Amino acid sequence: MTETQGVKGGLWCLRMAFCIVYVTSMHREGNDLDKLRIGIIGAGGIAGAHAYAYQRMDDVEVIAAADVVPGRAAEFLGRYGFHQGQAFEDYRDLLQLDLDGVSICTPNVAHFQTAVDALTAGKHVLVEKPLSFTLAQATEMVRTSKQRDRMLTVGFQPRYDPNMKLVRDIVRSGVLGQVYYLQTGGGRRRGMPGGTFIRKELAGSGAIADIGCYSLDLVLDALDYPLPLTVSAFTSNHFGTNPAYHAEADRFDVEDFGVALVRLEGDIVLNFKIAWAMHMDTLGPTLFLGTDAGLRLTPSSTGPWGGIWDGGIGSITLFADQFGQHTETIVPVKEHEVDRFYEKVRDFVMAIREGRPAPIPAEQILRNQAIIDGVLQSAALGREVAIEIPEV
Ligand SMILES: NC(=O)c1ccc[n+]([C@@H]2O[C@H](COP(=O)([O-])OP(=O)(O)OC[C@H]3O[C@@H](n4cnc5c(N)ncnc54)[C@H](O)[C@@H]3O)[C@@H](O)[C@H]2O)c1
Repeated sequence: MTETQGVKGGLWCLRMAFCIVYVTSMHREGNDLDKLRIGIIGAGGIAGAHAYAYQRMDDVEVIAAADVVPGRAAEFLGRYGFHQGQAFEDYRDLLQLDLDGVSICTPNVAHFQTAVDALTAGKHVLVEKPLSFTLAQATEMVRTSKQRDRMLTVGFQPRYDPNMKLVRDIVRSGVLGQVYYLQTGGGRRRGMPGGTFIRKELAGSGAIADIGCYSLDLVLDALDYPLPLTVSAFTSNHFGTNPAYHAEADRFDVEDFGVALVRLEGDIVLNFKIAWAMHMDTLGPTLFLGTDAGLRLTPSSTGPWGGIWDGGIGSITLFADQFGQHTETIVPVKEHEVDRFYEKVRDFVMAIREGRPAPIPAEQILRNQAIIDGVLQSAALGREVAIEIPEV
């Protein structure tokens, strides 16, 4: 081979290498622009709501699902029309794929390990609520997300309700003055789930984490999540453990009722109460008391499953003194058909696409989880406990 031939050959190799790199990057860019690649871990009830949301997005493709029950992931993918999707029994096989994001829809017990493994594998993660069993687990999950520079967010769909946003706007406008008392929670007259939700070893917590996380998010988000300091709580499970009220009473070992007094930074106290079942239609309205005005929210329904915990606000009333009189201003609630679940999943997708931070910031998730953790600890110990959120 002459020197010229050698140089020509070298140039040709270089050109080919460039072409391969260019074509590969174009392919990935094309993917980025066209379809985001999503995997779903856990193919049970709520995974269907995720799949239904992804199904309606032209720029998303669910390429895999995993479920420990043999055959369930394949059946699930078929049911939602993701016929090209790969089905796995072990979620770690799913994490080997080139995925942009993962929805974690397993029972609570599996949130921690699946999320940590998904983040470590470089995927963005949307975990169904509650984030985890404990604050320690939640902290580890957030730490992994930061270390791996991957997004971790949690499924708080009531946040996407237009009336929840309205409440946030009212509170953040400053019209209430200095807020010093919050009351939130509520619950169901009869609304106890079964299956994995009622076993401590699988769910970690009952009503407190299941629907309480939403009520906490409603008031804390409006106030930009003040730091929780202490909690004194009581829980019980008179309904769940009674065969007259629950078909799986012999397996029921989580709380179906809880009440707590939580001190927050800024001289704010939060009265939090929640029930899956009770001989009452409501545990009262959600209240914000401020030095200049008060805000009262009532649930849109007091039926067996009704309550503000799910984003259903029936009325918003602002109490103040005006013109030398006590006034009550009714703020009209918005009539809307927003699909909160779709909005939640869409926000996750858009955050990935636009490189935005997690829709629900890590600090907020940790504070929410810290209160749940504190309520359970305080109730178990029968005394007030301090809340300490580790650095991440
Ligand atoms: N945001 C909401 O409105 C909402 C509503 C219901 C449930 N949830 C939450 O969603 C989660 C799941 O609840 P669900 O009602 O769908 O439960 P489910 O029991 O119907 O489904 C869970 C699925 O996960 C599978 N699974 C369990 N461990 C697994 C693992 N390690 N890897 C892969 N798959 C695994 C199970 O086989 C099952 O198919 C819970 O955390 C729950 O709190 C949220």
